[in-house]
Amino acid sequence: MIEPNRHYTELQDSYFFLELSRRSEEYLTAHPGAHIYKLGIGDVSQPLCPAVIAALHEAVDDQSTMEHFHGYLLESGTQFLREAIAQHYARRGVTVAEDEVFISSGAGDELGEILDLFDPVSRALVIEPAYPAYVDTNIMSGREIVHLPAGRDCGFLPLPDGDLDADLIYICSPNNPTGAAFPREKLQAWVDFANRRGAVILFDAAYEAFIEDADVPHSIFEIPGAETCAIEICSLSKTAGFTGTRLGYTVLPKALKRGGMSLNAMWMRNRTTRTNGVSYILQKGAAAVFTPEGQRQIREQIAVYKHNAKTLMAALDKTGLWYCGGRNAPYLWMQCPDGMDSWSFFDLLLEKAQIVGTPGVGFGACGEGYFRFTIFGSPDDTQEAAKRLAELF
Ligand code: MLT
Repeated sequence: MIEPNRHYTELQDSYFFLELSRRSEEYLTAHPGAHIYKLGIGDVSQPLCPAVIAALHEAVDDQSTMEHFHGYLLESGTQFLREAIAQHYARRGVTVAEDEVFISSGAGDELGEILDLFDPVSRALVIEPAYPAYVDTNIMSGREIVHLPAGRDCGFLPLPDGDLDADLIYICSPNNPTGAAFPREKLQAWVDFANRRGAVILFDAAYEAFIEDADVPHSIFEIPGAETCAIEICSLSKTAGFTGTRLGYTVLPKALKRGGMSLNAMWMRNRTTRTNGVSYILQKGAAAVFTPEGQRQIREQIAVYKHNAKTLMAALDKTGLWYCGGRNAPYLWMQCPDGMDSWSFFDLLLEKAQIVGTPGVGFGACGEGYFRFTIFGSPDDTQEAAKRLAELF
């Protein structure tokens, strides 16, 4: 009989965000007709922008004619989209070659699949609180995890210390869930550390479009030396509302080598075996995001979410509760009142104000006693939730 992968027994029974939906559904079943204000999972509420919709329609039409029809495409992505992304980096002063860009079906998928490149006996360092998939995917592949707890003392932005024994380093900046964002010099410290150790940084840049502060890099490749130690994983989910459409991209420099092997060449080899790529239609829609019109339209959408952030921050200011985030990232991270634990606060908010947020403990043990709000809700719901929050405290 074949043995199953027993590392699955080390996982929690259900994925954290699934548990969150389950508890919300349970509330709705017990309170038929109730409306809940969803500030929990970071799912967007605004539709795709007109430039993307027009490109998607056009791509569907292309697939209906002999002349413009596309069958199989390059597994790493179409040239037009990889070029558009490389040019997007160039406009920020970052040189990325088109064959260093890989199109994916989203950052969530890619964060798990990229682990194929590394020895399962390597050690993965996760700065916590953290997006739970970093831990789950490494458990599934049997990798040892080094948990690095971060707290208010360092603004949730710890620096590497010489004793850290890690081969793979997860950095999410701007951060999910805390909203903290690494300034240039702190990110440089991690890049130097990774290069010294021969480690690789998996840089999750899913929230870069929300950055406001000038000293916060949008890409790790703005940092000297990153091209020899980092892989950047990005997504259009939050940048352009693609959570239900699915498209992301990974930048893997050709200068990144370990054990004499090129990780870029290995990833190309992996992609050609593991996937037939992302559909032509979605890649056309994604390319529209990088046009001047697309960029203008997504900025307008992000402004809607930024307004939500201000609404929630004003409400939290009134409560006097401690919080951070909301400026460079689409998340607000607050301390639960009166020493409450995260799930008790979740229940209280749901029962008393019909607000669903995300318990901090779902992002690691050091998130206990904290709570996260997303700014991706509809403006009306966010406004009402903010009012209820302020009234409750
Ligand atoms: C979150 O709420 O943390 C994210 O939306 C989850 C995700 O991107 O998968």
